[in-house]
Amino acid sequence: MCGIVGYIGEKPATAVLLDGLQKLEYRGYDSSGIAVLDHSHHLHISKRSGKIQNLVKSIHQFHWPQSCYIGIGHTRWATHGQPTDENAHPHLDCSGTIAVVHNGIIENYHELKQHLQKQGHIFKSQTDTEVLVHLLEAEARHNAWPQAVGEALKKVRGTYSLVILNQKDPHHLIGVRKGGGGLVIGMGKQAMFIASDVSALLGHTHQVFYLDDGEMIILEKQAYQVMDWETQKLRLKQLLTIEWTPQQAEKGGYAHFMLKEIMEQSKAMEDTLRGRIDAAGNTQLVELSKINLKFLKTFHRIVILACGTSYYAGLVGKFIFEDILKIPVEIDYASEFRYRDPVVDAHDLVLAISQSGETVDTLVAIREAKSKKSKTMAICNVLGSSITREADAVLLTRAGPEIGVASTKAFTTQVAAIWLLALELARLRRTPTVSRRLQMGRHLLKMPIYIEQTLQALRKTIKPLAQRFSRYDHFLYLGRGINYPIALEGALKLKEISYIHAEGYPAGEMKHGPIALIDSQFPVVVLALKSSRYYEKIISNIEQVRARSGPVIGILEKNDSLGQQKVNFFIEIPTIEESFSPMISILPLQLLAYEIAVILGREIDQPRNLAKSVTVE
Ligand code: AGP
Repeated sequence: MCGIVGYIGEKPATAVLLDGLQKLEYRGYDSSGIAVLDHSHHLHISKRSGKIQNLVKSIHQFHWPQSCYIGIGHTRWATHGQPTDENAHPHLDCSGTIAVVHNGIIENYHELKQHLQKQGHIFKSQTDTEVLVHLLEAEARHNAWPQAVGEALKKVRGTYSLVILNQKDPHHLIGVRKGGGGLVIGMGKQAMFIASDVSALLGHTHQVFYLDDGEMIILEKQAYQVMDWETQKLRLKQLLTIEWTPQQAEKGGYAHFMLKEIMEQSKAMEDTLRGRIDAAGNTQLVELSKINLKFLKTFHRIVILACGTSYYAGLVGKFIFEDILKIPVEIDYASEFRYRDPVVDAHDLVLAISQSGETVDTLVAIREAKSKKSKTMAICNVLGSSITREADAVLLTRAGPEIGVASTKAFTTQVAAIWLLALELARLRRTPTVSRRLQMGRHLLKMPIYIEQTLQALRKTIKPLAQRFSRYDHFLYLGRGINYPIALEGALKLKEISYIHAEGYPAGEMKHGPIALIDSQFPVVVLALKSSRYYEKIISNIEQVRARSGPVIGILEKNDSLGQQKVNFFIEIPTIEESFSPMISILPLQLLAYEIAVILGREIDQPRNLAKSVTVE
């Protein structure tokens, strides 16, 4: 998704902006640019398609002012118009005095562009964003600044997070947010920052606050004003302290963010559990106090909404919630739910799961659920993100920044958060027995150790297997019960970073179609855990694949001699109670996908066509 950075302060603005854009690269982009004012208030702009290095080169080629104190920057993920220099942001008005960077979509840009062109505005790009800057220029002709901003935005339909630099107002930056991805404000020493997410601010400040939908901010070096952009009514903002260090957002010596994030899952889970469950296995989630206790004890159904990997975590959650709470659980892709006029009501607890908290499908789906009077909760990894600010209650995973586009530690900590929620609801609703609930709680507490032991063992065994299987073009992943979602997630990991086609399937469904695909060139990865109630069934699925010469990689529990005889290759994981196995059985599949992608030389942290957070439909 597009990344935005803005700065005003004592440091050289160019360096601060470029550093911020580099920290936002993980969001996925295809061009970048910056605009700054020097101390004579001249406006300088440079923007290039491709990687940020192209922008840096262009800045060094020209006489770029050293002493700039204010500016804006942008990494663009193209939605309208090819990734070209002209289509890169910032965009300038005709007079070259107003510059804008934007994240979102202007729905009525065609009609606005025609109207502005009739007024004589010359457009240079194919983007929807450019209409914003010409609209600002037109409104500034007969409105004072910054009132012209509100007047211009009244004519706009769509979603936007935008930051504006105006040469005629050289000591202010203006930020506005309406439905687009988030905007976070950082307060530094003699400096103010504004960015799409907190990664761009780490290393400059830990004191931040977020703009809410419909808010505008006027930033100067040491002060700010937040207001409703339509009424200009001032708003107070709560300052948050972000604990993340810049190092957490760096690679920490690993070759890729994805590997770092796979290997830090034990700590991420420890942090997620900390202070929420005691040694006896009793949970205490203060986060739930935002929802009426009587509702928590009596609601009839859970409806889970998510996308991608978060959806698969939710699918694991369906098994957990139904097993422990004995209430119906539905799960839906947020992109389907939001358009279906869904049947939910005040008796439902709607649970949105999202790592970024900015996935627009999930954000809009949760709004749809709220409009139907459902109580809403969010399991999310980013403090202050849009989804967390719209849900009635929030249970944050504490995985730290997840930079790699392929979600790993977010997934396992989402499952841990689901466990915490299930056990807390069980405590409030007195199901199942106290002893069973506490026993499960104590089991949950052991997961970080199991994860660490498994990862350390796997690092040595996965590489040779990846070597052997990196040249195949298709894979099938099979699992049953609570490990069926792990087959789906394992397949997603492989396809999204190695670009090899992979499908996840419930093993029982193989006979209903996929078995037609099996031959010696079609490897099948099977989750076959000996302590699972489905073990015998899975073994027969493996035999069906072998009978058609399909190579089988088994994810087996330690010392499973029968399983080892049935498969061609196997990866061992510790024996673990089936309900908790997804947090372990996903680990070899994450590493297998990673190692295959490394062998194939893929852009692992920023796979082609993908973005870390899908903030546009
Ligand atoms: C998973 O590896 C992908 N990055 C993608 O499927 C992701 O899970 C999905 O876009 C949802 O993102 P969210 O969790 O931030 O809402």
